[in-house]
Amino acid sequence: MIGKNIKLFEELDSTNNFVKLNVSNLENGAIIVAERQTSGRGLRDNQWYSDFGNLYFSFIIKDNVYRSNLFTYIVQSSVSIIKTLKQFGINAEIKYPNDCLVESKKITGILIESSGTSSLNYIVVGIGININQIDFGDLNDKATSMKKILNEDFNIDEVLKEFVKNYNNILESNSQKVFEDYISKSIVIGKKITYKNEGYVISDIEQNGTIIICNDLDEKRVAFSEISLKELY
Ligand code: BTN
Repeated sequence: MIGKNIKLFEELDSTNNFVKLNVSNLENGAIIVAERQTSGRGLRDNQWYSDFGNLYFSFIIKDNVYRSNLFTYIVQSSVSIIKTLKQFGINAEIKYPNDCLVESKKITGILIESSGTSSLNYIVVGIGININQIDFGDLNDKATSMKKILNEDFNIDEVLKEFVKNYNNILESNSQKVFEDYISKSIVIGKKITYKNEGYVISDIEQNGTIIICNDLDEKRVAFSEISLKELY
């Protein structure tokens, strides 16, 4: 379970960094929250806007962590976020592998980091949920928040509390069902992509995260890193 221990900081450079620096002092499932981050990190070395008003947190998983399960953590976190947003009246969808979107705009991001080789020492799941931010500057047409969608302020602690409940319920529930929830909210299936200069359609996602793409001539199984989903959004 996560969240037996929750530590809240007014400011950190990055909650993921804090977890990685304090691995040995943190128990499995501990959550680190920061009201703001001075160096919030996103995917592909991007910065993650991290001023007051949104939720920024990371948790550590130390028990039975295997690289082959990395996609499972993505599925569990994404489905927990979708359920949480739904409880606050927001219908979000999943952009494979781990962004949640509302009306094609990003509302949450997940940054998973790990250490070790096939049997991992730990993984850190870092999550940012846009809650009360209303101006996204240059990203106004790409990002949104709970407040932008529903025009009201939300209590950040309440959102975290619901996320933790949902995540722990998911840990207890049937993993096939959780994966089905992930697929049912996933917007990439049926979308066209280019792979090695050939046109394909994404037909499915496997439980380990591999994508199945097909065209009239061929069906292929490809890893996320092998295709660009940029053209889809
Ligand atoms: C993305 O680019 O989509 C991933 C963004 C992840 C942001 C969160 S905020 C909490 C945690 N700490 C960080 O520095 N990054 C993650």
